[in-house]
Formats: sequence, structure tokens, C-alpha cells
Amino acid sequence: MSVPQPPEPIPGARLLFSLDPAVSHLNHGSFGAVPIGVQRAQQRLRDEMEANPLRFFTQGLVDRIGHTRRHLAGFLGADPDGSALVGNTTTGVAVVLQSLGLRPGDEVLSTDHGYGAVGLAIQRECRRTGAVSRVLPIPLDATDEQIVQIVRAGLRPGRTRLMVVDQLTSATAKLFPTAAIVGVCHEQGVPVLVDAAHAPGMLATTVSSIGADFWAGNLHKWAYAPRGTALLVVAPQWRDRIEPLVVSWEQESGFPARIEWQATLDYTSWLAAPAGLFTLRSLGVDRVREHNAALAAYGQRVVGDALGVPPAQLPAPGGPGVALRLIPLPAGTALSIDAARALQTRIGARLAAEVAVMSWNGRGWLRLAGQVYNTADEYERLAARLPALLAQR
Ligand SMILES: Cc1ncc(COP(=O)(O)O)c(C=O)c1O
Repeated sequence: MSVPQPPEPIPGARLLFSLDPAVSHLNHGSFGAVPIGVQRAQQRLRDEMEANPLRFFTQGLVDRIGHTRRHLAGFLGADPDGSALVGNTTTGVAVVLQSLGLRPGDEVLSTDHGYGAVGLAIQRECRRTGAVSRVLPIPLDATDEQIVQIVRAGLRPGRTRLMVVDQLTSATAKLFPTAAIVGVCHEQGVPVLVDAAHAPGMLATTVSSIGADFWAGNLHKWAYAPRGTALLVVAPQWRDRIEPLVVSWEQESGFPARIEWQATLDYTSWLAAPAGLFTLRSLGVDRVREHNAALAAYGQRVVGDALGVPPAQLPAPGGPGVALRLIPLPAGTALSIDAARALQTRIGARLAAEVAVMSWNGRGWLRLAGQVYNTADEYERLAARLPALLAQR
């Protein structure tokens, strides 16, 4: 079977980024990349802050944060009154977990596709409160209906206090049917936290259409915001119960100010985040999504072919617009997180290609991203050189 054609490049897009041209940056998913114009917007805000810190912090900053929050919420289709800016998805998850008031015997349910650090946060909150963490195994090729079935069967009404599910998973690049999962959980009175770290900018689904109790997503991955920009969205019935990790001066102001104001911090990443959306809109949001998804699919096929993986064995994420794709690595490769990290570093050093190597469910996976600054030849070069590097183990 022939490899599909790569998408047409978006002219000039590469020049918007300050990425090292000697390296193929095929892992936008992990830490994103901030366009030069957004870096400049943040630097202008930092210049303003350093010209007069007292004025910057005490005159109008809270209003500017509110303005930014409404702008970002509007873009994501989230209720602006139910949204709070936080530093990252991990923080959003921690805020939710510690606000639940878990008790001994309660249970937090998640899946084996969940993000590692989120799993650690669930475990710590369970240890602290006497609650129990239970992880539902979900096959990589499970259909939406099967996933919903597994979740339905896994709920223990009266005991399950929270279901945590990813919108798009990190380790497996799989799109989960979040709205349907929320539906079955709500039938049983179980609230849902959606880990949407990769959704903003990449996926077209609006936050409101998912209907989750809690939703946390990063603007600093696919929406080109400076790092340290995420939105936590909370359903009305929970807003009074949500507590910040750090109590500061806006504590008595309620949601969202008490979540957002975390004492003296550099808030310029939030204020510059609309510049990221401006970049995305200037390139064309739909055009960027289609380009990135098509390029990731192309990369998956050429690297998969080079490793001798038949197309039928390449996981499909199950939806349009997904700009992350997995390729199974040869058996015995990257069997642990440490081995995966070591291989990722070796690929970076030897092949000048930044990729994500994942260890999931007893096997190693290469995860490739597509972004506007990538070109087809970067995946082709990786495909040409990776088999020899893997053979050197
Ligand atoms: C699914 C998922 N959840 C959470 C995170 C954590 O994001 P952050 O480090 O910005 O908090 C990531 C990061 O890649 C992720 O992929």
C-alpha cells in the first residue's frame, strides 16, 4: 500500500518560530513551542512589569487577568464565569482533587491511558484521605462504544467519587469519547474530571459540549501560548467548593479569582496567551488543524513502513484533527519509562530529531507530532535512520 501524500506546507509558518533549524522538532506534544511574536508580546509585558513592578501588580492586573480569561474561554467554548486560569493542567487537576473532600472508602477511577503525573496526584490524594485509586484497563483499539461500556461497568455508585478521563491521551494518542463518558457517569451520580492537556488549539470540540464537572487544558501546547498557561473549567455546582492550592489575597473573592491569584508570580504568560490565539487565527485555525493531523498521519506511515509495521497495526486515534500518532517499536524496546527516556535522548543526540518515546502496556511506542513548522522530509529522514539506530541496542 502506498504512503499517502503529505499536506501542502503552510507558507512561512516555520519562520514564526525560533526553533533550532539543525533539529527536527517532532514532539510538539510535550512542551509546545512558542511563536516569536508571542515571545515578544510576553517580553513587552515583562518590560512593563520591570519598569514599575508596584504599578504592574497593583493597578489593573486582576482586570487584565479577567479579560484574558474571558478571551481564552470564548475561544475554547467554555463558560467564562466557570473558568479560571492556572499554570498548567497538572495544577488544575491538583486543585480539583484536593477540593473533593475525599474520605476513607471513597474511590477515584481513572484509565490506564492516563497521564503519569496525574496518576501520581490521584495516588497521593488517596493516600492523604484514605480513599482508593482504581485504574480501568482499556484496550488500545477499543471503540468508543466499548470504552463507554468499560467505564459504565467500572463505576461503583456510592463509592466512586470521581472519574478522571483524558480527552486525548498522552501515552497512546487516543481520543476518548468524553461527552459519552460524562453521560454514563452522571447517570450514576459520579462527577467527571477531563484531562484535556492537549485539546486547546488542536481539537475543535467545545468545552461546554463535553458537559464535565471539571475540565483542565493547556494553552501552552497547541494554542501557542507561553508556557504556564492553562484553563480550569468548573461546573456551577462545584464553583463554591473549589479551593486554591495556595491561599492568597483573593481568597474571599470566591471563584475564579481565588484560584487565579497565587501571590507574587510572573503572570505575563497568561496576559500574552491571546497573542498565541492571534497567531493560530492568522494561520487559520482549521487549516492548522488539518495540516498538523495530516502531517502526523504521514509521519506515522513513513516511519511505520521503515520499521516494517503493516498499516493495519498502526493505531488510529479515532477522530479527525489529532496531530499525535503512535508507531509500535520493535518488541523488547523501551519496556520501562527509564528505557523509553534513554531511547528518546539517544534519538535526539544521534539523529537530531526530537520525538517522544513512550512505554505503555508492556511495549515501547514512538509518538510523532505534526506542527506547522514541520515538513515531510523531517519524518522521511527519521524513517531512513531510525531502523539502524534501533538495531544497535
Ligand atoms: C494528558 C496529559 N495530561 C497532563 C499533562 C501535564 O501537562 P502540564 O505539564 O502542562 O501540567 C500532559 C502533558 O503532556 C498530558 O499529556
